[in-house]
Amino acid sequence: MKNTQRLDKTLANLGYGSRKEIKLMIKNGLITVDGVRAKDSGMQIDPGKQDICIKGEKIAYRGLVYLMLNKPAGVISATEDKKMGTVIDLIPKAYQSFNIFPVGRLDKDTEGLLLITNDGQLAHDLLSPRKHVSKKYYAIVDGIVTEDDVKKFSQGIILEDGYVALPAELNILKCNELSEIELVIYEGKFHQVKRMFGAVGKKVIYLKRISMGNLTLDLELEKGKCRELTNDEICSLMRN
Ligand code: URA
Repeated sequence: MKNTQRLDKTLANLGYGSRKEIKLMIKNGLITVDGVRAKDSGMQIDPGKQDICIKGEKIAYRGLVYLMLNKPAGVISATEDKKMGTVIDLIPKAYQSFNIFPVGRLDKDTEGLLLITNDGQLAHDLLSPRKHVSKKYYAIVDGIVTEDDVKKFSQGIILEDGYVALPAELNILKCNELSEIELVIYEGKFHQVKRMFGAVGKKVIYLKRISMGNLTLDLELEKGKCRELTNDEICSLMRN
């Protein structure tokens, strides 16, 4: 992955002013890169490796990055892929040099909340099978979801390979030939939601993650966009 990016964009993304203001600071000789006065606002730098100073003061390098992505369908939950677009391709370049990765996976056709970070400890804690961190999904299901399905899910449904899923909370929002549901699960097996519905003879035709532990998808966040978590969101995620 390319780790360099424009100097003006990097500083703007880190909150040191607008690109116009940064351009002006560069013109006035106020910015140095590795001790050398920067001349071109478009120069390529690696913010993770190079020393950048504004008026002689080293910029605050942020070690840890926490982003909420509203994942669209059609991209894969990986850091790189030769053929397909990844969730990291959707993240502004300024963050990409921080070695960020998605916490867990959503299928290519699944949308919604995906936490992107470089905090390996937090990722490990959230994904640990021993922690049973909740994940809430909204789904459209082909078939009439019944109270019997609710009961089966609450008791621990048996998947096609014999695995007994942990008890899950199924809430029917609309019950029709196409049903709408919300489902809270406490584990994250491969294709888990789709396989749970498969076990009661139904097919998930749309799937979106709404929350993970204490973190809920921001309804204002457009599909394909990301934003940094607030301090409150970071703290509550760490309390999961
Ligand atoms: N369950 C699934 O089946 N797919 C996902 O992407 C997430 C949970």
